[in-house]
Amino acid sequence: MTRPLFIVFEGIDGCGKSTQLQFLSAYLQKRGRKVATTAEPTDSVTGKMLRAALSGKDPRTAAEMAALFTLDRIHHNKAEDGIEKRLKDGFDVISDRYYYSSLAYQGSLTDYDWVRRMNVDCPEIRTPDICIFLDISPAAALARIGKRGEQREIYEKEETLTLFRATFMRVFDTLTDNVAIINAEGTPEEVAARIAAAVEPLLN
Ligand code: TYD
Repeated sequence: MTRPLFIVFEGIDGCGKSTQLQFLSAYLQKRGRKVATTAEPTDSVTGKMLRAALSGKDPRTAAEMAALFTLDRIHHNKAEDGIEKRLKDGFDVISDRYYYSSLAYQGSLTDYDWVRRMNVDCPEIRTPDICIFLDISPAAALARIGKRGEQREIYEKEETLTLFRATFMRVFDTLTDNVAIINAEGTPEEVAARIAAAVEPLLN
């Protein structure tokens, strides 16, 4: 058994991350691994501030959002009860979103290099073993969001998602992180098989 892995799911809103995260969690458990799942924004006080901003209830500037997401991420990593603790206890950790979202979303709306440095240079924000980017067209993503019937969040518009998808690609070109870009269109099982194939080399 290899050491515990830190895996991150990313993609524009509506790409199907939550479903695929559950599939991968089950797949890893079947392989005899212990798995902990987590998400950003977290349930921290900062995470609650972020939710209020994302819903449009408490509007904030892109720079405020970038700073709050970074603070929430430092909290998320904590040795006492966060990502570091679970890895130390032998769990693979799978996170629904991480700093790639900050670089793509806030990096599109405020100074990209500032957002990148604040996250990538922070000694208390761990680099994942792999980032799985679920790639889907903004039109397909919005069709999925529409089906959920939930209140839309501030970023859930075609123009904005098109911009964020393009910035995600820039993020992956500029960082040296291990990133798997997965075609997220197809049945959930087809997409899950592509993800399992991308993670497989890390398990041996
Ligand atoms: P969430 O409800 O988790 O979105 P979804 O499940 O649809 O992916 O809300 C997260 C929202 O926050 C989403 O619009 C992306 C955004 N976000 C950022 O803008 N920056 C970040 O650093 C993170 C982690 C999320």
